[in-house]
Amino acid sequence: MKIFIDTAEVKAIREYADIGIVDGVTTNPSLIAQSGRKFEDVVKEICQIVDGPISAEAISTVAEEMIPEAYRLAEIHRNIVVKIPMTAEGLKTVKAVSASGIKTNVTLVFSASQALLAAKAGATYVSPFVGRLDDISQEGMGLIQEIVDIYANYQFETQLLVASIRNPLHFVDAARMGAHAATVPPAVLGQLLRHPLTDLGVEKFLKDWATVPK
Ligand code: G3P
Repeated sequence: MKIFIDTAEVKAIREYADIGIVDGVTTNPSLIAQSGRKFEDVVKEICQIVDGPISAEAISTVAEEMIPEAYRLAEIHRNIVVKIPMTAEGLKTVKAVSASGIKTNVTLVFSASQALLAAKAGATYVSPFVGRLDDISQEGMGLIQEIVDIYANYQFETQLLVASIRNPLHFVDAARMGAHAATVPPAVLGQLLRHPLTDLGVEKFLKDWATVPK
């Protein structure tokens, strides 16, 4: 499973990219706003840090504006994946731009039918938001299993990118279900790495090593 980092904070991206566990980056307008920086500056810097798919979101709402916006975003860097909302106008855009080789990530997906339509439109990635479904008392990971089952019935090339991950269980379950990728916020990436028994074990080994005659 590919691991993307879900943030526009370049410091965190660098930290986890240095460890070697980052295959790509996803951003959205809220994450860009949190960074307090200009959209293009952040995206360009991210592209210098990670050599993998970098999702940058289109903010137009109608296809006639979203299509040129997608082309503009794709010109920023060869690794840009244009993130497009799961709306009728968004699907029109995905169909139009993917025909010319632009990679897309259909975002704000909350149902299996939306995931199927995005795949049929030619999306490179589809991003179901599991945490936001959990927030409204609907099991987010149940949707991931439905999408895995549906995609397995056909020859779609669309990759299932589990988004809105809030905890390590979301991540592990995504891998168990065979999702192609998961996008994980920096804090959760930290939780994935650490285990108290690892820390205690390292501490004890070092303590015992100090007693070995040198
Ligand atoms: O990148 C989109 C998605 O991962 C957002 O997550 O926590 O705002 O629902 P969240």
